[in-house]
Amino acid sequence: MKVQDAIYQRKSTRRFTKSEIAGNIIEEIIAAGTQAPSPKNDQPWKFLVIKSIEKKKRIADILENQLNRIKSKYIRQGNYREDIIGAFETVRIIKEAPTLIFVYLDFQKCKGHDDGVRWELNAKDIECTHIMAIGAAIQNMLLMATEKEVNSLWIADIFYAYNELQAYLGEEGCMVAAIALGYGMDIGKKVSRRGLKEVMKYI
Ligand SMILES: Cc1cc2nc3c(=O)[nH]c(=O)nc-3n(C[C@H](O)[C@H](O)[C@H](O)COP(=O)(O)O)c2cc1C
Repeated sequence: MKVQDAIYQRKSTRRFTKSEIAGNIIEEIIAAGTQAPSPKNDQPWKFLVIKSIEKKKRIADILENQLNRIKSKYIRQGNYREDIIGAFETVRIIKEAPTLIFVYLDFQKCKGHDDGVRWELNAKDIECTHIMAIGAAIQNMLLMATEKEVNSLWIADIFYAYNELQAYLGEEGCMVAAIALGYGMDIGKKVSRRGLKEVMKYI
């Protein structure tokens, strides 16, 4: 498959069959992640692969409990949070997807320069640049998954239960994202994108 085809064919999948992904394919997908560029070639990533039904269920339960807690807090304030309602869908996806990969930023590996500049988003340059590398690794993984006819979902809803999941998984480093992988069913149409006229300009 051409890179161009993988880029244009990849789309988020939120319904998976029970079919398992072979170990060698999971490894090829992660290996593609490790080919991403990173500041000073620090390769600040770490991947935690979870296939166990019990562990996925536990992760989903932890997320669901936190979502319920946040939901009731906002409901008490008369605030209906659409993002929280949407995140309950992720709870189901985490249980259903045959493979879940947690991607970590491993601060032990971040040796690139640190000017200590705090950006508006209140993160230091070294944190931002290494998180960019993690994003590049994840995108490589999703493209390799597409090539292997494996469907995927990039998940950030785990942040609703950040501390609880960090504690449960017990890994050193910062959880940056999760990826659900599997063979999709009911895959919808590709969602549209803003056109180039809107997002780019020559200066
Ligand atoms: C950083 C990031 C976090 C995301 N988190 C979630 C998530 O937690 N749950 C979810 O259903 N989709 C999540 N998505 C998927 C986006 O909703 C999806 O990429 C977007 O709607 C565009 O659709 P496409 O991936 O099919 O092109 C995430 C995507 C990115 C890049």
